[in-house]
Amino acid sequence: MSDIVIQEIADGLHLLRISDTKTRFFEALWEIPEGITYNAYLLETPEGAILFDGWKRNFEKEFVEAVSSIVPPGEIKHIVIHHMEPDHSGTLPKMLELAGEDVQVWGHPFSQKLIEGLYGKSPKFNGVKDGNILEFGGKKLLFVQTPWLHWPETMVTYLPTERILLTGDIFGGYSIPSGVFDDQVDTSEYLTFARKYTVTVIGHYKEKIGKNISKLEKFDIRPKMILPAHGLLWREDPDQIVQAYLDWGSGKPKKGKITVVYSSMYRFVEKAIEVAVDELKKQGFKPVIHRFVDERRDEIGDAISDMVDSEAIVLGTETYESDVFPYTEFLVSEMEKKVHFEKPLLLIAIFGWAGAAGKKLTKKLGECKFDLVDTVEFKGLTTPESEARIREGVGKLIGAIR
Ligand SMILES: Cc1cc2nc3c(=O)[nH]c(=O)nc-3n(C[C@H](O)[C@H](O)[C@H](O)COP(=O)(O)O)c2cc1C
Ligand SMILES: [Fe+2]
Ligand SMILES: [Fe+2]
Repeated sequence: MSDIVIQEIADGLHLLRISDTKTRFFEALWEIPEGITYNAYLLETPEGAILFDGWKRNFEKEFVEAVSSIVPPGEIKHIVIHHMEPDHSGTLPKMLELAGEDVQVWGHPFSQKLIEGLYGKSPKFNGVKDGNILEFGGKKLLFVQTPWLHWPETMVTYLPTERILLTGDIFGGYSIPSGVFDDQVDTSEYLTFARKYTVTVIGHYKEKIGKNISKLEKFDIRPKMILPAHGLLWREDPDQIVQAYLDWGSGKPKKGKITVVYSSMYRFVEKAIEVAVDELKKQGFKPVIHRFVDERRDEIGDAISDMVDSEAIVLGTETYESDVFPYTEFLVSEMEKKVHFEKPLLLIAIFGWAGAAGKKLTKKLGECKFDLVDTVEFKGLTTPESEARIREGVGKLIGAIR
């Protein structure tokens, strides 16, 4: 599929999608070898066009060309902003300039401040409240605020007649799907990327997922088509992505799945983890393993994403300069923020001469929601005694699940 997809997906409604394969770290943080798309939308009416969102600024030239291939930008009468993060608003200043000073901008009232703060622009702005409606060119648009998914000033747009919901970041995902709609790709593979996106980008606000989805139901929003600003569009089974977001937002576990993450400089921790994994398999579990070792470093975003639908977690690490191994420290800080569910957790901590990681992490993890079932800490070598302790710890972990 080409880097840019311009396609009429409903009567007069066009998708403008670009594939970003250059961003190695999304938000300068999350490694995304799978890439990402930015999906903007343009609605043509007899009275002029309505533009929904845009692309990242690097693609300004391409965006202007994409819009111009459908309508002259001067014919855009309204611009709807679902939230102001620059992956969607980067092209806004250029579009304001090309649309002309009469263009009406619609968004959460706080978006106006961000337009000024981020771009120094003060266009004609309509701050919307829940349930506000814009009727234009024979089309009806209903706006509902969905705060914190992903920024404070997030909202969605519903076309009640067509039952189409434009959702911004909500229900979006990483990767560059080989098709446009859910009926054109293998959704099970895509959902892994969507889960990673949800956890890494929206995970900090996970409590808001269920709340905002219930709020949409109150406005009788029952979409036949869900159009997010990243990744796949949903028309065959929109409930699938709604249910998936609800599950990720609440940390619903998949039976038998356990996430194992460890760091190991010289493979002492790894030896201990091998024992834990062996015990888990013997007990019928399916461990998914992520490692930070000298020849490879798995992505923290993938690790925390796997934790979301796991029944339990095993974390292995070592003492480094009288502290927790730095990469694990970062992992734990992100776990606390983004996958902070009451899941059982087993900690295995190894040291050389004076252990510090075990104690520090026991304190830290004990203070948060995770159910820390045991800390197995020992010096260097995995001896028969320490092996027995690890198997005992795994037993406690499994006991806490059942
Ligand atoms: C750079 C470095 C710093 C370390 N700092 C400490 C330390 O402060 N205290 C300690 O008890 N062990 C320390 N160790 C020893 C490791 O914790 C110990 O060798 C452990 O078995 C390493 O497990 P691994 O090979 O799986 O990383 C350090 C090791 C390295 C390589
Ligand atoms: Fe965002
Ligand atoms: Fe986004």
